[in-house]
Amino acid sequence: MIRFEHVTKQYTTGNTALDDVTFTIDRGDFVFVVGPSGSGKTTLFRLLIRDALPTSGGIYIGDWDLVNLPKNKIHQLRKNIGVVFQDLKLLRDRTIYENIMFPLEVGNIETQEARNRVEDIIDRVGITEHRDKFPVQLSGGELQRAAIARALAFSPEILLADEPTGNLDNATSWEIIKLLQDINASGTTILMATHNADIVNSLRNRTLIIEKGKLTKDQHSKHKKEEHKAHKDNK
Ligand SMILES: Nc1ncnc2c1ncn2[C@@H]1O[C@H](COP(=O)(O)OP(=O)(O)OP(=O)(O)O)[C@@H](O)[C@H]1O
Ligand SMILES: [Mg+2]
Repeated sequence: MIRFEHVTKQYTTGNTALDDVTFTIDRGDFVFVVGPSGSGKTTLFRLLIRDALPTSGGIYIGDWDLVNLPKNKIHQLRKNIGVVFQDLKLLRDRTIYENIMFPLEVGNIETQEARNRVEDIIDRVGITEHRDKFPVQLSGGELQRAAIARALAFSPEILLADEPTGNLDNATSWEIIKLLQDINASGTTILMATHNADIVNSLRNRTLIIEKGKLTKDQHSKHKKEEHKAHKDNK
């Protein structure tokens, strides 16, 4: 469903953020993207929503050829890919409800339909009691749920979550992971950038490891399971 073919991204400053990266991700998968700070994880996400173009290489999502996607189609692409940004990007002067409503307003969704959707999503991510508060009044975990809710506004096929547990304690991190697992179980393909070794090691998701812009390891969930089994058998 997602295909990167020899993707290189060089910023105009000369930084090579991604260097000849090739991989494919199947529909319905839940994949971790792991790597040190500055390795290119956020850049990879920006390329997937056409917030940036690669310097060379091809990026494909289903039938979409992102490099050659006309500008007037970008909004359609972005309805199909929800993003939880590393810095969340919630609007401070709007309530949680209004924040989740915002993309639907911009997308010209009819008011009653939009309200129904927002209420469903708020309920789904478990922040009903916080719906009329402003972002500053919420905890880190609650804000993360709000940002996930906003990313789900158009029921996207793909959800990108950039360090969704970055600022959270262990218990709250796991709650967020459970929420993402639920979303994945309902059919949404998920890519999650993370530094959280505990989560990556505990779950057996496919894991892409990026170091200095290079894809250095692509650990398929199946292999991880086999490794785990071999490890147990050797004990
Ligand atoms: N807009 C930009 N202009 C120039 N260089 C950039 C830009 N954005 C990122 N970079 C550089 O590209 C490289 C990859 O950055 P990126 O933000 O993708 O890393 P990351 O893996 O998301 O890091 P972190 O874990 O800290 O979020 C870094 O060297 C960074 O300085
Ligand atoms: Mg980043």
